[in-house]
Amino acid sequence: MQVGARFDELREQALAELAACADERALEAWRAAWLGRQDGRITLLLRSVKDQPPDERPAFGKAANALRAELEDALEAKRQELKERALRELATLRALDVTLPGRRPTRGTLHPVTQTLRDCIRAFEAMGFRVFEGPEVEWAYYNFDAVRIPEDHPARDMWDTLWVDALVDGERKMLLRTHTSPNQIRVLERHAPPIRVIVPGKCYRQEATDATHEWMLTQIEGLAVDEGVRMSDLKGVLYDFARRVFGHDRRIIFHHSYFPFVEPGVEMAIDCFRCRGSGAECPTCHGSGWIEILGAGMVHPEIIANAGLDPSRYTGFAFGLGIERVAMLRWGIEDIRHFYQNDLRFLRQF
Ligand code: PHE
Repeated sequence: MQVGARFDELREQALAELAACADERALEAWRAAWLGRQDGRITLLLRSVKDQPPDERPAFGKAANALRAELEDALEAKRQELKERALRELATLRALDVTLPGRRPTRGTLHPVTQTLRDCIRAFEAMGFRVFEGPEVEWAYYNFDAVRIPEDHPARDMWDTLWVDALVDGERKMLLRTHTSPNQIRVLERHAPPIRVIVPGKCYRQEATDATHEWMLTQIEGLAVDEGVRMSDLKGVLYDFARRVFGHDRRIIFHHSYFPFVEPGVEMAIDCFRCRGSGAECPTCHGSGWIEILGAGMVHPEIIANAGLDPSRYTGFAFGLGIERVAMLRWGIEDIRHFYQNDLRFLRQF
C-alpha cells in the first residue's frame, strides 16, 4: 500500500516532466534523469529492492519494473509525437512537400583505363610482384642516359619528348617521362636482388595521334632481377598475365625488337579484336592482324653492372605494358582517343 503510493507520485512527476519536453534534447535529458543506467531515478529505485524488508521485496520489484516499462513506452510515444509534429511544421512553414519522391544521386564509375590498370596490377601482384612508384616529371638522366638511350637518339628529339623549359646548369635536364623504364634504374638504386616489382604510371609523348597512339599513355613497367632469371621466365610471366587478363582464347605473339636497355628485346602482340587478322585495311591493326601491347627483354648487362651487381651472376627481365591498348583489346574499343575526350556517352558504357 505504502509502496504503491510512493510509486504513483513518482509516475505522475515523471509523466508531467515528459509532457513538458519540447524537443529531442529535452527528451534525452529526461531519459538520463529517469532511466539513465548510472543514476536514473528508476534505476536507483530498482537497485534499492535489496534494501527493502524481505516480505516487501517481490511487490516492490514488480512495481518498480512495471513503472520502468511504462516510462519507456511513454518516452517512445513522445518521441514519435515530436517527430510527427516536426514534419507537419516543416510541411506548413516551408511549404515543403514531404511526399515528393527523392532525387536519385548520380553515381560515377572508375574510368575504363583505371579499371584496366587495377586489373593488370592485380594479375602481377598475384605472381609476386610488388608495386613501386616514380615521378612523372623526370630527369633526362633516368629517362634516357641511364637506360642507354644516347644523346643522338631520335627519341630525345624535341618533337618526340615534352621537355620542361626550366634550365639546370644552363641546360634542359627535365622532361615528362616518355616511358616508365627510368624506374628500372630507380628501383636498382634502392633495392638489392631478389627484385620483382611493377611500376604503374602515366607517360607522355609528343606524337601525331592516331587510332592507337595518344600523347599521354598509361604504362606498367615490370622488373625482375635475381640469380638465374631467364628469358623463359619472362615469357612465362607474360603468358600468365595474358591468360589472366584476356582469357584462354586470345592469341599472343612475340616478335624480335630493339630497345637499348634490353638484350635481347621483344614485342608482345595480341590478335586484333576487330579484324581477327583478316583485314588489310583495318584501321586498328593496320592490316597486320596484331596489336602490340608491350615491349620487353632481358635487362642489358651494362645496366646490371651500373647497379653494382655482377652481370655474370645476376640477370633480369623487364617489360613495359601499355594499359590503353589492353583496355582496347578487352572491350573492342577501336580508337584510343576515346579515352581522354571526356565524352560521357563513351565513358558510361564501362
Ligand atoms: N620503355 C619501352 C617503351 O615505352 C618498353 C619497354 C620496357 C621495352 C621494358 C623493354 C623493356 O616503349
